[in-house]
Amino acid sequence: MKKRNLVFTVASSLLLATVLMSQTKKPAAPAKTAGATASGGASASITRGKQVYLEQCLACHQVDGAGVQGMNPPLVKTKFVLGDKNTLVKIVLNGMQGVEVEGEEYHGVMAPHSDLTDAQIADVLTYVRNSFGNKAKAVTAAEVKAIRAKNKPA
Ligand code: HEC
Repeated sequence: MKKRNLVFTVASSLLLATVLMSQTKKPAAPAKTAGATASGGASASITRGKQVYLEQCLACHQVDGAGVQGMNPPLVKTKFVLGDKNTLVKIVLNGMQGVEVEGEEYHGVMAPHSDLTDAQIADVLTYVRNSFGNKAKAVTAAEVKAIRAKNKPA
């Protein structure tokens, strides 16, 4: 019984979506976006991520990612930026304090940014991992979602 309800709900919302979509006549997508993922691919993610960076991270980590000596660490080729995505996403979700970065101590406090959406966190980290001389794989919203689900706030 429950299952039938669910199937019905899914089917009717699909129908509704189809009707809505057919009513909004969007121009055909330009050819260069063909083949990109639903979120527009890595380069679109980097573009969106830059906006998030300017709003959320710039004040501390600076426009060039160099940070502020003794206060806020750089985001240039650090093991956190280039390393394990799990740790990196958790830094954004939970903030960070009192960790040595590349042999230097920093006395600033990074507050949690768990109010950002999965997509915003994915975009900003994809931007950081592909800016300031960094080169590392994109972070996807699905990855952030999975990490957030297992994240236990301290
Ligand atoms: C209020 C200032 C502040 C803001 C805003 C901030 N950070 Fe931080 N961030 C810090 C500080 C301070 C540390 C290091 C804390 C420590 O000493 O352990 C840090 C550490 C980090 C680290 C790990 C260390 C490194 O340098 O590799 C990453 C990655 C990072 N921040 C990314 C971000 C991103 C992405 C944003 C925006 C979503 C952001 N931060 C916003 C201050 C800030």
